[in-house]
Amino acid sequence: CGTSETGGTSKTGKTNEGGGEKKTLRVVTDAAYAPFEYQDKGEVVGFDIDFVKAVAKEAGYDVKIEHVGWDPIFVEIKGKTADFAVSAITINKERKQTYDFTVPYFLSKNEILVPKGSSIKSAQDLKGKVVAVQNGTTGQEVTEKILGKNSKDLKKFENNNLAILEMKNGGADAVVADNGVVDTYVKNNPKDNFVVIEDDGAFEKEFYGLLLPKGSELKADLDKAINKVFENGTYAEIYKKWFNK
Ligand code: ARG
Repeated sequence: CGTSETGGTSKTGKTNEGGGEKKTLRVVTDAAYAPFEYQDKGEVVGFDIDFVKAVAKEAGYDVKIEHVGWDPIFVEIKGKTADFAVSAITINKERKQTYDFTVPYFLSKNEILVPKGSSIKSAQDLKGKVVAVQNGTTGQEVTEKILGKNSKDLKKFENNNLAILEMKNGGADAVVADNGVVDTYVKNNPKDNFVVIEDDGAFEKEFYGLLLPKGSELKADLDKAINKVFENGTYAEIYKKWFNK
């Protein structure tokens, strides 16, 4: 149905010169962030995963996507033990000092997940409340702006599912994380009776990019392929599959 196996034809002369075996890139992720990346029967799946596979195909690479966890992503990319990372990673100034990013591929923002009936109606209402976040995320950063750095009301977890679990168990009043993730959680777990609070005044627009070692030569190939995947309709297809829009 419109897809054809490429049988050795390289679209980017540079990456697959000679039309021989495709190079396999090692891609790392934190597969605990549905619908972007999560594990289904031991397999890593999600929007980001389909996106990366499409981009890699376009650029003429094979990919091996491995769940390593959030903090290890940054260790691996810094140490160049992986070629790049995909993990709903927000492009920001601080990270750009140490890493490179591809062009942006997804618009996002932080939102607040709370139990139904919570008194929390805006970001400012988080003051004085216990908030669970994934350690080292922009969710932590925006929450610290409200609670203060080193606030004892801020509970940090290794992954976002653990942060949500903490609230489920009554150990936190709210979770701050990316809109796609909290919206999907509410949709998939109606019995938990959680709702999402948006506060566009407090939480700024963010863009996801693929994370690369500083100076990586792959960036040019990936950027080109990302633009192609946007132009040829593949991105829209993947978006529709995961967000039904
Ligand atoms: N977008 C946020 C950030 O970059 C959260 C990303 C968390 N991703 C994940 N796979 N756990 O900080």
